[in-house]
Amino acid sequence: MIVFFDGQFLPKDEVRISPDDRGFLFADGAYEVVRVYQGQPFLMDEHLRRLRYSLGELKFAPELHIPLPEGETLDDIARELIRRNDLAQGEATIYIQVTRGVAPRKHAFPAGSTPPTLYVAASAFSSPREALQEGVSVILVPDTRWARCDVKSVALLPNVLASQAAAVQGAKEAILVRDRVITEGAHSNVCAVFDGVLFTHPATHRILAGITRGLVLELCAERGIPYREEAIGLDALAEASEVMIVGTTTEIMPVISVDGRPVADGRPGPVTRRLQGAFRARVEAALH
Ligand code: PDD
Repeated sequence: MIVFFDGQFLPKDEVRISPDDRGFLFADGAYEVVRVYQGQPFLMDEHLRRLRYSLGELKFAPELHIPLPEGETLDDIARELIRRNDLAQGEATIYIQVTRGVAPRKHAFPAGSTPPTLYVAASAFSSPREALQEGVSVILVPDTRWARCDVKSVALLPNVLASQAAAVQGAKEAILVRDRVITEGAHSNVCAVFDGVLFTHPATHRILAGITRGLVLELCAERGIPYREEAIGLDALAEASEVMIVGTTTEIMPVISVDGRPVADGRPGPVTRRLQGAFRARVEAALH
């Protein structure tokens, strides 16, 4: 597997990350996961805009944000990785991570001249077809994350613990609950339908403003599905006619049970199916 690390393309097993890298020592960095359909990165501009936002909020110096070879963009590098790893026909993901670089361990930022570390990899991915068709179960877990969940930071320990709790219980995702409202999933956003209206948590510091979430709201507007960016109360969730988790690797996935209790009749609902169809049409359109 060929990856891009610190300015060059090289086999993944030749990458050497310093123990002084601030990503390793402090989780001092940000990342993105971009979906690739038939060799084409999907919504790359939106992901890159969010990466710049995350780095800006983490106070990376703007001129050092993303260390790239002269004249190259992250999109060029992603496409080159797709080509070099023979992923041009199939499905894949692009992983992009930027950390605050290598410097002796000290909490405050290193000298301004320290270049960030950039790592980009393309990996084959298989679509979770069965889960998208049949729906999945989720569990509820307290949201113990920090107060800036809008930043896509690599510090993911609460998400890791929540995901592990879900895995142990055979659930697909952990839905996070803070102050008796649903914030989002450990690696997805959450939407629920009440009386035909789709609800999702507003894009505040409490959640990641998911690229897929943004597309779902756009598709709602386009297809005349009413929606509100309003938090879903924990007690209200049991009354939802549909629940879905949405994200880059998740797409638009029906949730059919929460903590072992079925959502409505325990089958994917009509709003979810319409959005899945509209999503597919968007992907197809992006390919032509
Ligand atoms: N996860 N919320 C969280 C906490 C996430 O980690 C993600 C994405 C999302 C959905 O955002 P988007 O639609 O932009 O992918 C929401 C990535 C894919 C991951 O699994 O690391």
